Amino acid sequence: ALSAKHVREKQRLLVVANRLPVSATRKGESSWALELSAGGLVSALLGVRQFETRWIGWPGVNVQDDKGQKSLSSALEEKGFIPVFLDEETVDQYYNGYCNNVLWPLFHYIGLQQEDRLAATRSLQSQFSAYKRANRLFAEVVLSQYQDGDVVWCHDYHLMFLPKFLKEANSRMKLGWFLHTPFPSSEIYRTLPLRSELLKAVLTADLIGFHTYDYARHFVSACTRILGLEGTPEGVEDQGKLTRVAAFPIGIDSERFIKALETDMVRSHIQKLRGRFAGRKVMLGVDRLDMIKGIPQKLLAFEKFLEESPEWQDKVLLVQIAVPTRTDVHEYQRLTSQVHEIVGRINGRFGTLGTVPIHHLDRSLEFHELCALYAITGAAQSLGAGAILINPWNISEVAASIEDALTMKEVERKERHRHNFMHVTTHTAQVWADTFVSELNDTIVEAELRTLR
Ligand code: G6P
Repeated sequence: ALSAKHVREKQRLLVVANRLPVSATRKGESSWALELSAGGLVSALLGVRQFETRWIGWPGVNVQDDKGQKSLSSALEEKGFIPVFLDEETVDQYYNGYCNNVLWPLFHYIGLQQEDRLAATRSLQSQFSAYKRANRLFAEVVLSQYQDGDVVWCHDYHLMFLPKFLKEANSRMKLGWFLHTPFPSSEIYRTLPLRSELLKAVLTADLIGFHTYDYARHFVSACTRILGLEGTPEGVEDQGKLTRVAAFPIGIDSERFIKALETDMVRSHIQKLRGRFAGRKVMLGVDRLDMIKGIPQKLLAFEKFLEESPEWQDKVLLVQIAVPTRTDVHEYQRLTSQVHEIVGRINGRFGTLGTVPIHHLDRSLEFHELCALYAITGAAQSLGAGAILINPWNISEVAASIEDALTMKEVERKERHRHNFMHVTTHTAQVWADTFVSELNDTIVEAELRTLR
């Protein structure tokens, strides 16, 4: 008999996310350059290797001609990626508009300025229609790829209608949806004008996953308060039909990083960086240039720290990699200028002819460069016992934490690092996907048993 593990390895997984793991740029009529996409979703999902995976998503470029679509499709299909082509108008209304200007800030509790809020309200209806239209296009592509027995895993706030469209076409499809952002308190969520339709659509999935238990709880409250449905410990119930809701903490492909550290390329890079930054402590920030990452707040705290601890001015350096993102959205353009202005001011104030305190890069790095940077600095995240946790809005507290981190005794530093390392290597992307998919399989079996009872 086949072992459970063997069966699972053979399971086909259709991953559907707005963005493919590579974004294309056109180089000629039929020639394409593919570049790795940035972001947490791509990093986690690329680490999921234990299934036979096909990934369906938008290739990040507008291609309307037949020849272009065909040549790009075949370049992508070689890698197991299936493109969903969206025209410029749809991308503007669905992606820049409804996803990035409405849902993203709302889900992160970022209030829009009054003038932007009014403008957003005016264009909401047409953006919402484009959102639905785009979700339909995704559904068509999924259905063209779907085979009996596949698990379909939809991702993120871009695709909240997708479960509904897919279930309408095939009610037996095994279907999960996972949100890669917070789900806000129902008090915030309810300010969304078209709040019910989105909830109802996503509830057609069999399993709904969130990063944390709190986000799952917020979602269940939104369903009970706005839709009047019943929340149970398992999820949300509507006339006897249960949609399972649970938390699945995400991770990275830690093995890939550990293996890379043994390669000559990364090793020689580490040597180079150590030489270049000798005598200075290096602080590292790697973020998409997004308002939710708190880059301006971090810079202001660093400035305050340099002001208050002048003895550190020539002994510490902040390397900030800020990968450009959603550059067509006004808020992101405003943020880019703001960050540039602050970096310029701090470097002007504290720099010397020889060096500056902030090395700011407006681009992504190659994996080996990034790996070497992580190796010389270590990465602090919200990792419970290991990390120094801060309130990013409190600039003085962050400045004081920078000092704590820089002056921490080696024994404590190693102990904290051990905690973080353990966390990252046990809560991996593979474990995250395994848990989600087996929970989805179990949910379906339980639902079938319920109908037999
Ligand atoms: C976050 C979102 C992802 C998204 C990523 C990059 O992680 O949750 O869905 O892929 O940001 O954003 P982008 O808009 O460039 O795809």
